[in-house]
Amino acid sequence: MSTLSSPDVLRRTGGRPIKSIVFDEETIARRVGELGREITEAYPEGELLVLGLLKGSFIFLSDLVRTIERPLQVDFLIASSYGAGKTSSGAVQLLYDPETGLAGKHILLVEDIIDSGKTLERLLGLLAERRPRSLAICALLDKQLAPARQPELRFVGFRAPPAFLVGYGLDHAENYRNLPFIADLDS
Ligand code: IMP
Ligand code: MG
Repeated sequence: MSTLSSPDVLRRTGGRPIKSIVFDEETIARRVGELGREITEAYPEGELLVLGLLKGSFIFLSDLVRTIERPLQVDFLIASSYGAGKTSSGAVQLLYDPETGLAGKHILLVEDIIDSGKTLERLLGLLAERRPRSLAICALLDKQLAPARQPELRFVGFRAPPAFLVGYGLDHAENYRNLPFIADLDS
């Protein structure tokens, strides 16, 4: 276990200690590289549009696309579901819709973490209506609480513990996204 009240960690968190580092930088980088190779192999041809779900996926997506060794396009979606709380409301609102056309393309929806799976369920329905050639999900973390009936779930970085995680893009009330590791906040 790392030193979680070390000056380095406290400087990054503004003095708030964290319970544990769940995935460190090296572990994340190694797994992201593996995902990039899996994705490169999974799409031998056709147009690939990597759609990042903002804001949580921004660091993961930027690391991931650089490990995918084939042509691709990048766009984003903004859906809002949590606000400042820690539990999913289930109500998902689209605040930004991708401008890039989806029809006929392989769509890879990139998520930071799947918790209840409600955000994803809603988004997949919306995206499927736009007639993509295929629709897949790449989630860095999966808490595995979502119903098992998600055939689209193709690429997952790590199984996540049932804790509230922050860092590497994941926030609590917009804080901690810049931590280079993924931590259990334990509040
Ligand atoms: P779902 O709709 O319950 O699957 O919620 C998914 C979204 O909630 C993710 O994209 C995150 O933005 C957020 N979320 C879920 N669990 C966590 C967590 O442990 N830490 C930070 N954000 C989370
Ligand atoms: Mg969030």
